[in-house]
Amino acid sequence: MRIVHTIAELRQALAGAERPAFVPTMGNLHAGHLALLASAQRQGDATVASIFVNRLQFLPHEDFDRYPRTFDADCAALRQAGCDLLFAPREADLYPEPQTFRLAPDPALADLLEGEFRPGFFTGVCTVVLKLFVAVFAGKAHGMAVFGKKDYQQLLVIRQMVRQFALPIDIVAVDTCRDADGLALSSRNRYLAPAERAEALQLPLALRALGRDALAAAHALPARRAELEAAAMAMLARRGWQPDYLTVRRRTDLQPPVSGDASGALVVLGAARLGATRLIDNLEI
Ligand code: PAF
Repeated sequence: MRIVHTIAELRQALAGAERPAFVPTMGNLHAGHLALLASAQRQGDATVASIFVNRLQFLPHEDFDRYPRTFDADCAALRQAGCDLLFAPREADLYPEPQTFRLAPDPALADLLEGEFRPGFFTGVCTVVLKLFVAVFAGKAHGMAVFGKKDYQQLLVIRQMVRQFALPIDIVAVDTCRDADGLALSSRNRYLAPAERAEALQLPLALRALGRDALAAAHALPARRAELEAAAMAMLARRGWQPDYLTVRRRTDLQPPVSGDASGALVVLGAARLGATRLIDNLEI
């Protein structure tokens, strides 16, 4: 696996590739990232991963400084998995001057849920993802980029960005990888103390229960949704969590369901803080 740091080196390394398949990451790779890579390897003629902890998508009080950086282990994992090329820009390679030009996503999709609790998050994500796409795919007739469903809203925002800018890139979605007990894999799981790790399972359990209750009340969901969501959040709060949201939404636009929306059209999403760690998860129902 070749490792490059600058956009110029990246483009030179990709000169022979016609359909690169790209997996953008912030590093600290786990089995979920490797599943994205495996999907990329089935699609393109060269597999590129990136590792870049993107300052623009963190709020000042968030965990940018302590976000786990495990570059050597990440390289070993990518190499073992057969990745062709790793793009690992330093901050000055990707942002040689302050990135004052930002890409603002559609507020109807990006200002709710994660965007409500992390204002500016999707502007930071879109700005870096567009820049990474330009770095990887410029001059290519077509490309693919792989994203996990764990960041469900991010996936929808990126799909909309690609569609509205007519970027010649297929966005491939990969199901969330989970530990044996059902906790979604996340780099932030490593912040959890052992007792918190055991408790963390309550988030997917609460989402599953909310999904089950939502489907049971499908005929009256628009009217009963708020009550079911409040009960799910109260259950987590009683166990010591600070929930931001647990909610039933339409898969297509993350808006609340209207009558007639039912099984197969919905997703249950949640974000909650356990101690100092904020976890997110979702379940398509
Ligand atoms: O999902 C992530 O890890 C990040 O948001 C991404 C897409 C790599 C952009 O920094």
